[in-house]
Amino acid sequence: MAVKFYQPENQVPLEMHKVRVVQKLTLLPVQERLKAMQDAGNNTFLLQNKDIYMDMITDSGVNGMSDKQVAAMNIADDSYAGSESFNRAKAAIKEVFGVDNVLPAHQGRAAENILAETFVKPGMVTLMNFHFTTTKAHITRLGGSVVELVHKKGLIPQSDDPFKGDFDLQALRDAITEHTPEKVAFVRVEAGTNLIGGQPVSLENMMAVCDICHEYGVVSILDASLLQDNIYFMKIREPRCKYMSTKEIYHLLASRFDIIYFSARKLGFSRGGFILSTDAKWTNMMMEFVPLYEGFLTYGGMEVRSIEAAAQGLLESLDMEYINQGPEFIAYLVKELDDYGVPVIKPAGGLGAHLNASEFVPDMPHNQYPAGAVGAALFIAGGIRGMERGTLSEQREPDGTERYAELELLRLAVPRRVFTLSQIKYCADRVKWLWDNRSLIGGLQWEYEPSVLRFFFGRLKEIGYWQEELAAKFKADFGDSL
Ligand code: F0G
Repeated sequence: MAVKFYQPENQVPLEMHKVRVVQKLTLLPVQERLKAMQDAGNNTFLLQNKDIYMDMITDSGVNGMSDKQVAAMNIADDSYAGSESFNRAKAAIKEVFGVDNVLPAHQGRAAENILAETFVKPGMVTLMNFHFTTTKAHITRLGGSVVELVHKKGLIPQSDDPFKGDFDLQALRDAITEHTPEKVAFVRVEAGTNLIGGQPVSLENMMAVCDICHEYGVVSILDASLLQDNIYFMKIREPRCKYMSTKEIYHLLASRFDIIYFSARKLGFSRGGFILSTDAKWTNMMMEFVPLYEGFLTYGGMEVRSIEAAAQGLLESLDMEYINQGPEFIAYLVKELDDYGVPVIKPAGGLGAHLNASEFVPDMPHNQYPAGAVGAALFIAGGIRGMERGTLSEQREPDGTERYAELELLRLAVPRRVFTLSQIKYCADRVKWLWDNRSLIGGLQWEYEPSVLRFFFGRLKEIGYWQEELAAKFKADFGDSL
């Protein structure tokens, strides 16, 4: 497992892979970073990749491919129906999850669309530890609603609880009773709970949720998009998992949940998505939506090369020497920031480091979008692109009022097998500078606010001229340095 250094003071996470294909990056001068951010409407989604030094917007579809994945892509079998590539993906899923019934979808949210179409009827509720943006959008589009039942420990920004994604089990029972089992479309467990900081759910809690679902006759679904990180944390934080192999954990989960789905942009180091079940009854219910929305049953909207890469990538998701890299780099970044006093979500989770914008700019109201403002400021400070995960990422209530996020976070995703440790250190350095200059950060206001998933293409502008002042301060402190 973790390689110990002779000099403990020099201990860093050590990669068990080497880099053989590289991509040139650019770091623009601060004035150009300022212009690029303003041209993008202060929305990091609208930045151009050519203007970015560290792209930390997501870990989705941007993970480093292994030599074996690239090799597998060369033997992709391009056929509309009965592709050998799909058979190889099924074989990999059988190996990893021990499951035979598999449906393809072009990505995770497409799987969510199919699940919502199958189970959600107007007036029904879905119960989950925490929502994900696309999941919720599909459910509410069909007249359903989302009830979040994460244990209250999950919303405490800084703690040392190892499994902040856990359900409040009593609240789950109460919600099923209150809404009645017939009105519950499904219970969804999100592994590596994204919007609360990539926080894992314990194996014990997942098993207990499945037991409750079975007791009440409610469908249980696992969103396994971030399961790889979650399994890493189970292995190192949960005593009962210490002596289980990763494969035993994947198999146990698949034997207990009715349905598992995931984005292969995360789990599988590739692109695409899958829905699986030990019981064909569930996949049969959903099967007809695949050709309708995605494509034939043996490609489901995925490109065959991605299917091959996902098949190999899934096998690599069993390997602790691969799956430890993301969480260990994130833990390193979180520690660097925390030691300096920068408010970050603790303990470190999977997916990325999460800055707590509410503490960065404590006096800024939610409707000036603190996490969006810190994100725009960090791009100006370092050419680093993060993602707003706060009020901007919420949907307005049906009556048009703002729904304020429980946590105002700026997510700095650490795509797997992509960055070097010096780049992670650079990121920490620029965040520390921003923290020391946080009094310069001001709010944002809408220029254009779309009605659906507004965080993707909405445009905002600075309130006042704080961004020019921030760039001037950078110039004063760093001189000619980029
Ligand atoms: N579920 C979870 C937990 C996710 O994090 C995502 C995507 C999806 C489902 C949807 O999958 O992107 O393949 O359609 N998360 C990405 C992110 C977008 O950046 O966190 P998708």
